[in-house]
Amino acid sequence: MKLIHGRFFMSFLYVNESKCKKDGACAMACPMGLLQVEPGQSIPKAIPGAETLCLQCGHCLCACPHAALSLTTLKMEDCVPLKKELHVGLEQAAQLLKSRRSIRRYKSEPLERCDIEALLETARYAPTGKNTQPLSWLVVYDAALVHTLAAHVADWMKDMLRQQHPMAAWLQMDTLVKTWDAGADLLLRHAPHLIVAHAPKANPMAPQSATIALTTFEIAAAAAGLGACWAGFFQLAAGMWEPLQKALNLPEGHISHGALMLGRPAVKYYRIPTRKQPDVIWR
Ligand SMILES: Cc1cc2nc3c(=O)[nH]c(=O)nc-3n(C[C@H](O)[C@H](O)[C@H](O)COP(=O)(O)O)c2cc1C
Ligand code: SF4
Repeated sequence: MKLIHGRFFMSFLYVNESKCKKDGACAMACPMGLLQVEPGQSIPKAIPGAETLCLQCGHCLCACPHAALSLTTLKMEDCVPLKKELHVGLEQAAQLLKSRRSIRRYKSEPLERCDIEALLETARYAPTGKNTQPLSWLVVYDAALVHTLAAHVADWMKDMLRQQHPMAAWLQMDTLVKTWDAGADLLLRHAPHLIVAHAPKANPMAPQSATIALTTFEIAAAAAGLGACWAGFFQLAAGMWEPLQKALNLPEGHISHGALMLGRPAVKYYRIPTRKQPDVIWR
């Protein structure tokens, strides 16, 4: 341990001794048990090998009330302080979460790119397995390209019907295809935009992480007065239909892990539709 410019340097951990109150908050928060503090006695020390075990989750920095530590890989300045005035209570959060609807009718006008960027900015904070943050995004901003992708989904359905694939009957693809051929898009709902979460195929954390990030995105969209809907048909086709995969042109080795239609809602809701009571076993 060396003292440099008033800070103790211990491999990947910097502690500002003048700020540190030796309360052990950082050690308590570390999910990996990488920091050791004798409360009231010593400043935090990293255990041997901590730098390789560290998840870069930032819990240690953000749980320190005195902003007394940084990691070589994670700076205090990059961790945004919480604003008390923006605190959301359960009642407000519950209304937002319950009133989120799957939006299937969109105004044709495009969103501002900055509005989509604000949603991505929120979604990047969604939890990811081992904090791997494995996701990348494809924003299909061009409505004509969204329509082209929907046409690939329709072609996939026609192929599934030809094969008499069991999924074709289960998903009523005959009706969907007839409707598509008649000019109505029940596949991507004439949405002006499509947001695709993609990641390397081999990453085992990616599917759940994508689902959570897309869910976060969808809720953020609802909070912003925008509308989104899970693109389930698209996602099934993206996993199976080569022409769609080619049209998506994702980076080498990446696959789609889920997608959302996005736009300005053309339907307004005044009530929250009821849902089943939770089916719970308590032990
Ligand atoms: C699919 C998934 C699995 C996870 N599994 C565990 C787990 O088994 N144990 C654990 O302590 N944290 C688990 N986490 C939490 C992540 O480690 C955590 O999201 C990540 O470190 C980022 O921290 P944050 O959620 O506080 O932003 C999991 C998260 C996800 C999304
Ligand atoms: S960043 Fe997370 S895992 Fe790494 S030392 Fe801090 S709390 Fe522990």
